[in-house]
Amino acid sequence: MKKMSIVGAQWGDEGKGKVVNYFSDRFEWIVRFSGGANAGHTIYYKGKKYVNHMLPSIMPNSKSKGFLGAGMVLDLEKLVEELNVLESDFPGMSSKFYIDLEAFLVLPWHKEEDEIIESMRKKPIGTTKRGIGPAYTDKVSREGIKLYYLFDEKMLKERLKDIYYLKSSQYGNKLTTSKEDVFEYLMKTKNELEKLKINYASAVEMGNVFRSTSVLFEGAQGVLLDLDFGTYPFVTSSSCMAHGVSSVGFSTFELDEVYGVLKAYTTRVGSGPFPTEIFGEEADKIRELGKEYGATTGRPRRVGWLDLPALRYAKIRSGLTGLVITKADVLNGLDKIKVCTHYEVNGKIKDTPSSSYDFFVAKPIYDELKGWKDTNDINFLKYLSYIEEQIGVDIDYISYGPKTEEMCSKNNLILNMENK
Ligand code: GDP
Ligand code: IMO
Ligand code: MG
Repeated sequence: MKKMSIVGAQWGDEGKGKVVNYFSDRFEWIVRFSGGANAGHTIYYKGKKYVNHMLPSIMPNSKSKGFLGAGMVLDLEKLVEELNVLESDFPGMSSKFYIDLEAFLVLPWHKEEDEIIESMRKKPIGTTKRGIGPAYTDKVSREGIKLYYLFDEKMLKERLKDIYYLKSSQYGNKLTTSKEDVFEYLMKTKNELEKLKINYASAVEMGNVFRSTSVLFEGAQGVLLDLDFGTYPFVTSSSCMAHGVSSVGFSTFELDEVYGVLKAYTTRVGSGPFPTEIFGEEADKIRELGKEYGATTGRPRRVGWLDLPALRYAKIRSGLTGLVITKADVLNGLDKIKVCTHYEVNGKIKDTPSSSYDFFVAKPIYDELKGWKDTNDINFLKYLSYIEEQIGVDIDYISYGPKTEEMCSKNNLILNMENK
């Protein structure tokens, strides 16, 4: 039974939600395995836009079910909000989702901490302020709350008391959330989730279920935002790569396919190095045409040309076996398209960054290619072949619009061109 992972190959927002949604009805389970409500995955269904922050991007009318894995940090308030939207359009849909009891929770004080720490940083990261960093920090420092605590109120109260003691000594009166606030919040969201009839699941049982069926693992963020290998410290606090499936009990060796999703150009939200970034009119034009505003925070996304060294790095780091290119339509009608082929790093020419350090000092070296009228133009096919040759991975699918159905395999694209 097929196991596939779809991850972002750049700095996030590559269109993973749309791509997962396109493939989703071929899989029994769609699994989110990392990140939290910092993610914003946009899908269109029957003309309506849905932005998934917590939920896997399943197709509402399909048989597939969604799983929120233990590697995530769960924002229960956002989860309830998202489920309510789906319930009003597709009654009963919440029961298609299962949550791993082992997952950690984002608590109201994590959002406060995110704000406080960002405001004190000399160089702010530009986080989504969704409490992601503090929630993962608490997990690692062993001050986290797991989902299963909600079902043992005595244990939960004790844990909150102990954790609050540490937090209040650390933050003093800067932190306004009390342990009682957190307890009340958790009880309220727990009741709402019960009303919505969401399912709770054990990671151990699910490991066996997943092995006997088809599973699509939906990555969040992108390889260059990965905690270990992204442009640290301007990264998120979790694994954004295919190996994050280990949090659901899988090894990357069990994956038949790892698709990296890339835009035909590059974007980034928040601070940090971005070697191919462009400014001024050219950037504004791409930003407007591509509607490059954050799906989670609404912030304008920084825009730049395609960055092949960064993609080669992503390929190696995340073991990409295939690529899906999105938003090629946004560049329709441009005369020339610039592509960064190499970095100059402290006087040395490199085709692939040796470590994340290189991104901070890289001077991009560009090639210039002919633009295309639309994605049925032969120049677009040449662009695809050029990227494939340069990165050494095939582009198997092409997305040419925001709607799920606006996507095809490269073979179909070629057939269409031949039939024209
Ligand atoms: P994700 O976080 O990787 O799922 O991506 P986002 O949803 O944050 O951002 C991608 C944006 O591009 C969304 O607004 C999508 O609706 C849109 N989109 C996805 N694929 C395409 C495409 O091929 N063409 C165009 N024009 N828009 C697309
Ligand atoms: P999807 O899944 C783009 C960025 C933030 C910030 C940095 C750290 O939609 O691709 P955090 O709130 O995680 O502590 O912020 O990471 N970031 C994203 N950028 N897409 C995302 O998710 C992102 N999730 C986090 O802008 O620079
Ligand atoms: Mg997004």
